Amino acid sequence: MHSLTIIRPDDWHLHLRDGAVLARTVPDTASQFGRAMIMPNLTPPIVDTRMAVAYKARLDAQKSSLIPLMTLYLTDHTSALEIQRAFDSGIVKAVKLYPAGATTNSAAGVTNIEHIYPAIEKLAELGMPLLVHGEVTDSHVDIFDREKGFIDQHLAPLLHRFPNLKCVFEHITTDDAAQFVAGASDLVAATVTPQHLLYNRNDLLVGGVKPHLYCLPVLKRNTHQQALQTAVSNDSKKFFLGTDSAPHAQGAKESACGCAGCYSSPAAIELYAQAFESFDALDKLEAFASLNGPDFYGLARNSDTITLTRRSWQIPSSLSFGDEVIIPLGAGETLNWKMEA
Ligand code: NCD
Ligand code: ZN
Repeated sequence: MHSLTIIRPDDWHLHLRDGAVLARTVPDTASQFGRAMIMPNLTPPIVDTRMAVAYKARLDAQKSSLIPLMTLYLTDHTSALEIQRAFDSGIVKAVKLYPAGATTNSAAGVTNIEHIYPAIEKLAELGMPLLVHGEVTDSHVDIFDREKGFIDQHLAPLLHRFPNLKCVFEHITTDDAAQFVAGASDLVAATVTPQHLLYNRNDLLVGGVKPHLYCLPVLKRNTHQQALQTAVSNDSKKFFLGTDSAPHAQGAKESACGCAGCYSSPAAIELYAQAFESFDALDKLEAFASLNGPDFYGLARNSDTITLTRRSWQIPSSLSFGDEVIIPLGAGETLNWKMEA
């Protein structure tokens, strides 16, 4: 196969940040994707509809073709009324649950899910999706076991209590999560990142630590990587594209206390194509990237297409990022597929 034309993909989990770097992140995303689900973990976080409307205006001011779908950041104080307001705005498409302390800018997140039962009940009533960062935060739980712990302690009981809740388990990293989602109702789906399909914790740690492969949830052992590859190749409509592209400047990554997050937007669809080809599933890429997401969210599929051509090219070794520099995921590596402009 020399070329692959698919319906234009969407990115169902994306961090664009704010301010000057939007001139980098928004066009990079718009060059590939039609829509993107915009994560709300700014400083300060996007906790209400008014803030989401203002943030969307800053994204729209970039004058790109990207359609940003906004989210709210749940706190212990998010009310059912605020959920209703978000839904009525028409621009907020989902709300994000960060367990407090789980990841970048999650300090204001939820300390106890019971605190937000009224908000969750309202989400279930409205059919508005809850997006979950699924890791427990207890200091005694090993970082490699935090996703499984979240399923057992929080997610399974939550979905049992709210069987009508629409829920996306974001950036899944384990066999446990893939199996949990596959076995749950059709209201439960998952996003999968390019890094969790392409790499495992050996890539992160063997031969020297690679700060640009450090993200949360952290890369797991190769058996989990293989389980994710199987999940996205299985013709299940529950698994779809969410890059979790999460840019941090070079200096913040290459540091004694490096930030978590991989910047994949500039070559996202090519990274996924590379991954899907490696496990012989290129014919499943379109459903994963362009069909399953909008179908889950009840939105129309994009009406245009993109074409990937088989030709070698190198991901740039660095890119400008406001006044700083950023190292993209796969910097300097050769990919087999290039999206035609
Ligand atoms: C994200 C970020 O930097 O905002 N980091 C990451 O490693 N994925 C936060 C998140 O999605 O966990
Ligand atoms: Zn994220």
